[in-house]
Amino acid sequence: MTLIAQITDPHLRDDGAYPCHDPAEAILRAFETMAAMDRLPDAIVLTGDIIDRTADGYGAATAVLRAAPVPLLPMPGNHDRAPEFRAAFADWADFAPDHLSFARKIGDAVLIALDSNLPGGKGGVDAARLDWLADAMARATAPVILALHHPPFPTGAPHLDKDGFAGAAQLAGLLAASPVCRIIAGHSHRSMQTLWAGVLASTCPAIGHGLSLSLTGNFPHRASCMRPAFELHVLQSGSVTTHQISLA
Ligand SMILES: [Fe+2]
Repeated sequence: MTLIAQITDPHLRDDGAYPCHDPAEAILRAFETMAAMDRLPDAIVLTGDIIDRTADGYGAATAVLRAAPVPLLPMPGNHDRAPEFRAAFADWADFAPDHLSFARKIGDAVLIALDSNLPGGKGGVDAARLDWLADAMARATAPVILALHHPPFPTGAPHLDKDGFAGAAQLAGLLAASPVCRIIAGHSHRSMQTLWAGVLASTCPAIGHGLSLSLTGNFPHRASCMRPAFELHVLQSGSVTTHQISLA
């Protein structure tokens, strides 16, 4: 059994102006919950939006994340700042030179973290990232869990879908007959699941604030307070079962 925990979208700020709970405190509670489990995760992947409008960069964030009970693998989201992210987390993962993607063998799985933050701020993948992914998948010696910040699938929520996911069709084509057995993402601040490119794909609820849901786009897109949560992806016999843990 291989157990990968996922936390996402803390949006840590240095002004404390959180719309809901304190996400740093929620992260620490998630770590405590993981540490108290009868089986520790093999690793934690943090699928982006680590900071939000913070002037002092990643200093406070890394101080919180160092409390993780097992190795924590950070990914950037659209609120992160790539140069500062790379400098702050240089020793945490083996990042690609041109984007913040990385691959890591974790137990009986390979985690491929694909940086979906394109230059200019849109979500998606370009030719360089697709080439990097093809190479990473070719090197994979075990079933692959593919992690992104942006979900590559249409969500049905216009506020999330309006920008699309650049290169979605090319990514889906690359995943056909690939070792990818599960796709996980963040960004939506909500739990969603769908079958996409023949693979179960999902988004994890945020450890920070939730976001409102409008399926027509007529209601404003805004923070909506929900219980912070994380997920546990359990790889067994080549398939992945996901448990969602809400924090009180
Ligand atoms: Fe976010």
